[in-house]
Amino acid sequence: MTQLPQHPFTLLINPRFQTVEPYGAHRSTLLSASALAQAQTVITSWPGYTVTRLCALPGLAHAAGVASLHYKDEAARFGLGSFKALGGAYAVARLLCRELGQRLGRSVSHAELQSDPALREACADITVTCATDGNHGRSVAWGAQMLGCRCVIYIHATVSGGRREAIARYGAQVVRTAGNYDDSVQQADRDAKTNGWFVISDTSYPGYMDIPRDVMQGYQLMVHEAVSALRQWPTHVFVQAGVGGFAAAVCAYFWERDAVQRPVFVVVEPKRADCLLQSARAGEVVAVKGELDTLMAGLACGEVSLLAWDFLATGANAFCTIPDAAAVDAMRLLASPQEGDPVIVAGESAVAGLAAALLITQDPSARASLGLGSDSHVLLFGSEGDTDPVLYEQLVGRSAAQVLKDGDPA
Ligand SMILES: Cc1ncc(COP(=O)(O)O)c(C=O)c1O
Repeated sequence: MTQLPQHPFTLLINPRFQTVEPYGAHRSTLLSASALAQAQTVITSWPGYTVTRLCALPGLAHAAGVASLHYKDEAARFGLGSFKALGGAYAVARLLCRELGQRLGRSVSHAELQSDPALREACADITVTCATDGNHGRSVAWGAQMLGCRCVIYIHATVSGGRREAIARYGAQVVRTAGNYDDSVQQADRDAKTNGWFVISDTSYPGYMDIPRDVMQGYQLMVHEAVSALRQWPTHVFVQAGVGGFAAAVCAYFWERDAVQRPVFVVVEPKRADCLLQSARAGEVVAVKGELDTLMAGLACGEVSLLAWDFLATGANAFCTIPDAAAVDAMRLLASPQEGDPVIVAGESAVAGLAAALLITQDPSARASLGLGSDSHVLLFGSEGDTDPVLYEQLVGRSAAQVLKDGDPA
């Protein structure tokens, strides 16, 4: 059997997880099947929409000693390279409908926004903005371009030139700020207040909940696609987290549908940006300071989204942190797959859930504490492709194009 890579990891079983806690009315006002249905109507109307593939990985499942591993591959999402295409752009669409509706004193639908030239002209007066480490800003810029509003995106000191270019390609003005991601969030907020712009953030804070909620509603379409393609309800789900919005959207989906039979849910973070694990340990939201130095750029966040915490504080079974080297090994494993598995191009942040699952399945005590066994069905979300192609080639040793070519049986 293939030897899987070994790395140290931390697993914290959530002492506040409650098996029988109902989903509840408060959470239903944030994420629900009806809000998802609305997001689905809007997002599936956008040009280029297709369901992303769900890959079965029988080779890796065998090596990990579980019944199945499925990986939802978001690399092709709307040509943007990550699941984030669903969230930021959807929140831009919702904001424009709300704002124009207020200005006109009537409700404005998304369909009108797309078809009425007068509304499109009115959009050109509206500016949306956000801070990003890459993928969210790309989604907001793309949504703004598609719907005809202006867009200013803030990136922090260590966001790569490649990621900067990918945002600018969608017509946004890109501003580089000093400091880390959290500093760029604050700068975007200050400039928006001064200029009358609308912040489309994927993270929530006191007094700012509606837009990050819309972002998370958009993400749920990805979960719905994955579950619709599965034959088996998963027993375990591992999801990587930055501010936690993505993980909370996935957690909520299963919780709302079946509070008792929901899968064991594990939140995975980089070792050096573990604000969710630290918050779970403390029993309240705590921030992680410093450089948040990790290769997993999308997960380099020091502050939890408050909205996400509403779901994860008692809805996640466990929190796990992994070192960068584990993510790099997982990227290489997917690029040079086990017999029977497809070739997958996955970026640094995409593979954290997979990397954690592989480490945990090899550790008898961690495996037992999560109830993982030969009958387990594990679902993973590969949240990005090679969104930073230069870094991808550096880490994997081949470009994405080469990896796909090498894997092509023809
Ligand atoms: C590829 C990728 N995966 C996962 C995440 C984590 O999402 P969240 O910050 O909502 O936890 C991000 C965030 O930017 C990302 O870009």
